[in-house]
Amino acid sequence: MEKLTLTRPDDWHLHLRDGAALKAVLPHTVHQFARAVIMPNLKPPVRSLGDAMAYRDRILAAIPPGKQFEPLMTLYLTDNTSPEDIIAAQASQVVKAVKYYPAGATTNSEFGVTDIRRCDRVFETMQQVDMPLLLHGEVTDVHVDVFDREKVFIDQQLIPLQQRFPNLRIVLEHITTSEAVQFVLATSNMAATITPQHLLFSRNSLFKGGIRPHYYCLPILKREQHRQAILQAATSGNPKFFLGTDSAPHGRNSKETSCGCAGCYSALHAMELYAEAFESVNALDKLEAFASFHGPDFYQLPRNTETITLTKTTWRIPDALPFTETELVPLRAGEEMTWKMV
Ligand code: NCD
Ligand code: ZN
Repeated sequence: MEKLTLTRPDDWHLHLRDGAALKAVLPHTVHQFARAVIMPNLKPPVRSLGDAMAYRDRILAAIPPGKQFEPLMTLYLTDNTSPEDIIAAQASQVVKAVKYYPAGATTNSEFGVTDIRRCDRVFETMQQVDMPLLLHGEVTDVHVDVFDREKVFIDQQLIPLQQRFPNLRIVLEHITTSEAVQFVLATSNMAATITPQHLLFSRNSLFKGGIRPHYYCLPILKREQHRQAILQAATSGNPKFFLGTDSAPHGRNSKETSCGCAGCYSALHAMELYAEAFESVNALDKLEAFASFHGPDFYQLPRNTETITLTKTTWRIPDALPFTETELVPLRAGEEMTWKMV
């Protein structure tokens, strides 16, 4: 296949940051996607409807002139989120979901939830008003091996949560394991986003010839057998699985350091990366539904009507992009890609 025309896709998991960083990265997403679910892990996080409305205005102001883009806002769940916060958020139509980060799990998660059971009143309300819950599905217990944190989260926290709130619509974000695939398949009201890095790379990529900080994200890349399981899920045509890049920009200086931040930057070339992953298993015919249909269907939003086109063109990913006072190293910097968005 030389040319691929798809309904314009959406990104159901995106970090845009704020200020100068927002201005640097937003054009990449706007070029590829019509809408994106915007993660609330700013410093301080987006905790109230007021925070979300103000952040949304800053995003709208940063859209390049003449371009269309709709940010779908989320609230950051804390120990202090109240049922009233949920009701106000749902009534606004601006906030589309609530994001759960276990305290200490990842970038800017120090305001996160200390014990998921503390939020049961909030989950009860979310279930009632049908507000989706987005999960960073990892335990933070330092005694649990970093490669097992997703599986342990499912066993210890997600299964009981789902049993307490069987009608709560949940997205298990950025799944990385065959256990997550199995659990999502077996559970109603449960969907999952999948990133390009988890489709394309196993944990070997973290250590290829040396330590590779730009492949470090959370949840961490897993064994090859897990990569194959999520690639199978993404390309299966099952509507429970949809696109969420988790593109998470960090300046070069905070990645290439003695204690580097987690996050891969893929907004520049997200659709090209997904196309390559789908092509690797001869499943390009399944890309459109994964990228453009399953997400809006889950979120109960209309599908986009415009289209995008990718062509078979070889090009080189830049070594770095301008980013605030530093630079941003995109995923697979300096390497060749075989698909290019027109
Ligand atoms: C994200 C970030 O940098 O905000 N990093 C990441 O590795 N995915 C946070 C997150 O989604 O875990
Ligand atoms: Zn994320």
